[in-house]
Amino acid sequence: MRHLMSPLDFTTKELDELFDLANDIEKNPEKYAHACEGKILATCFYEPSTRTRLSFESAMTRLGGSVIGFADAASSSASKGESVSDTIRIISCYADICAMRHPKEGAPMVASEKSSIPVINAGDGGHQHPTQTLTDLLTIRSLKGRLGSFTIGLCGDLKFGRTVHSLIHALVRYDNIRFVFISPEELRVPDYITDKLKSKNIPYQEVIRLEEIMPELDLLYMTRVQKERFFNEEDYVRLKDFYILNAAKMSLAKKDMLVLHPLPRVNEISIEVDEDPRAVYFQQAQYGVYVRMALIMTLLGKDR
Ligand code: CP
Repeated sequence: MRHLMSPLDFTTKELDELFDLANDIEKNPEKYAHACEGKILATCFYEPSTRTRLSFESAMTRLGGSVIGFADAASSSASKGESVSDTIRIISCYADICAMRHPKEGAPMVASEKSSIPVINAGDGGHQHPTQTLTDLLTIRSLKGRLGSFTIGLCGDLKFGRTVHSLIHALVRYDNIRFVFISPEELRVPDYITDKLKSKNIPYQEVIRLEEIMPELDLLYMTRVQKERFFNEEDYVRLKDFYILNAAKMSLAKKDMLVLHPLPRVNEISIEVDEDPRAVYFQQAQYGVYVRMALIMTLLGKDR
């Protein structure tokens, strides 16, 4: 039995196989319509979500399986004080696989240690969001034709953004990648990440102004300044509109640069950018369904 806690839990070869399967699902969905018949996915979400929870539920339904779960802690027995460890032991009696999101870093890992079914980390605090990373990698590989040999700018909340942390961890395994971290001083990428890049001799640069770096980027990964991770409202209000990607800034970029965003967005991408063919964040969400279908099949041993 295998869990998914971090994107590094899969080798790059295993990721290639997962993405090949996801691309085949995209092309031939009918082939997979019964792949997980009789299996049950539990979605245990202690934190709000639209994309991750519903794409998991859509993925399992499209594979012919069923879904149970809860969408917030208040409607589960966590509100009566039940621990994650006890909850997963119960969920193991009801389902065959579980996707868990939790505001506490490491909670899905604790669950996996007591679980008798595969547990997927669907986002834990500011730590990791491995299935978003699988979505991001599949999007890049499908639309750019490669994973590697590019300059990627990550912009916005690089301090608390778990999608950013997960994506950097995953990308360091590919060749010839240069990172540009674009953030205000207060939301800089954590030292443990830049230390890792230094130790591996992976080039990176930190800048504050998005405009100055736009012409150099092959990929721009925008992120939201996350109100829920701030300790005081004043700091959030000061930083929330620090970056707004608009048509004028897009005019500085390469013709084939892609804009990704894990979503939800607030103001950081103006809606006028949605019409630009380089804006692929809605396509990215669609890839999220294919890659979660491939992941569920793989963890349930239905991929062969
Ligand atoms: N990208 C993402 O994790 O979105 P949700 O919070 O809506 O699941």
